[in-house]
Amino acid sequence: MRDLLIRGRVLTFLKEPQGIDDTASYRFIEDGAVFVRSGKIVHIGPYVDVAKQAGPDTEVADHRPHLVLPGLIDTHLHFPQTQAIASYGAQLLEWLNTYIFVEEQKFKAPEHAAFIAGRFMDELLSNGTTTAAAYCSVHPESVDAFFAAAEERDMLMIGGKVMMDRNAPDALQDTSQKGYDETKALIARWHGRGRAHYAITPRFAITSTPEQMEMSRALAAEHPDCYVQTHLSENRDEITFATSLYPEAKDYTDIYARYELLGRKTLLGHCIHLSDREISALAETEAVGVFCPTSNLFLGSGLFDRDRFDKLGARHAVATDVGAGTSFSMLETMDEAYKVLHLQGQRLSPLNSFYMMTLGNARALDLEDRIGSLHAGADADIVVLDSRAKPAMELRMQVASSLAEELFIVQTMGDDRSVAEVYVAGKPMKCRRRQTKAQADV
Ligand code: GUN
Ligand code: FE
Repeated sequence: MRDLLIRGRVLTFLKEPQGIDDTASYRFIEDGAVFVRSGKIVHIGPYVDVAKQAGPDTEVADHRPHLVLPGLIDTHLHFPQTQAIASYGAQLLEWLNTYIFVEEQKFKAPEHAAFIAGRFMDELLSNGTTTAAAYCSVHPESVDAFFAAAEERDMLMIGGKVMMDRNAPDALQDTSQKGYDETKALIARWHGRGRAHYAITPRFAITSTPEQMEMSRALAAEHPDCYVQTHLSENRDEITFATSLYPEAKDYTDIYARYELLGRKTLLGHCIHLSDREISALAETEAVGVFCPTSNLFLGSGLFDRDRFDKLGARHAVATDVGAGTSFSMLETMDEAYKVLHLQGQRLSPLNSFYMMTLGNARALDLEDRIGSLHAGADADIVVLDSRAKPAMELRMQVASSLAEELFIVQTMGDDRSVAEVYVAGKPMKCRRRQTKAQADV
């Protein structure tokens, strides 16, 4: 693999921005470059300096005037729901029963799982997302398809088999023992292979018996380096049902706490209707609440209260939650995040948005050494963003006067058309795929 020099307007975050003027929170190089060797970043800096590292054999990708950022990160979505986006008219529990538990049954067939897994990875890449934490279906075949598709593209992906042993169709249920055994086998097969990370995935308290929660506790204890992902406090009817199934628990959060499922590697989707006590319990255990704005609006679930998470010192991340989420685009997701917070009198600066999609989410996953920022030694997962991708953006950009304003325009008006290129471990993925498709179409 030849060395690669990526030239453009380089932007990477150093810490969480405190407001729209916090220029110390990021590094921006107007004529910058990233030097990549064997899939890793070796050097970043002004083009004139980085160019000195280039030899006659170095490939140069000149992306000026586009922005060059770390690849975007999505911390919660469901790969078997790729074809279930835009399922009409229902809130969470009815939506699951009417659409999702029907759709996920298709993933028993390895050919279907492989087809959707490939399309899912390509859709993420088209949208500039290079890492995601995904739920697979209950079928181990779906996990094999998921990690095989990620491996084929060399993507750093997190995923796991959903465990469900009640309140779901028979065809989607395992048992506490089967869920344990299949999860063990999948961890042995995939966790740590290449860039794969496993997430132990009891879907949520409603679809797991106490025995399955007990098995989840055992899995998490036996594999402390794996993630745990589940859903928490998304919808009022869900909360009532979940707490009725675990009457000994103080509240919904306490169900997971009692099974020792809250920890630094735990990702909790939604976390909308939590009490201060519950958010404080997350803060204490360092578990991560995952804000899924398009999903929470689409299912009519509610508004994530970021300021309360910050006030109580709890960690949070942001995600699409496809297929309740309506877009694979993290740009569109942050556009909705801005509005959800605005409705509550909270402000999300564009600097904060871009921090959250990159370094913020990498930190939530404890992967900031590898991804989420452009630094020597990091994996070369990089996105190139075009701030003028649409005529209306071009017009709007004519009167933009700062980097923060440009970022806000990309977030508010942009989508996959703004992703000019995406690199995974130093390999260009978007343009290559577009070309392949064009050739196939001829
Ligand atoms: N809660 C349990 N399962 C799901 C799911 O698939 N999507 C969402 N949004 N919430 C859930
Ligand atoms: Fe979800």
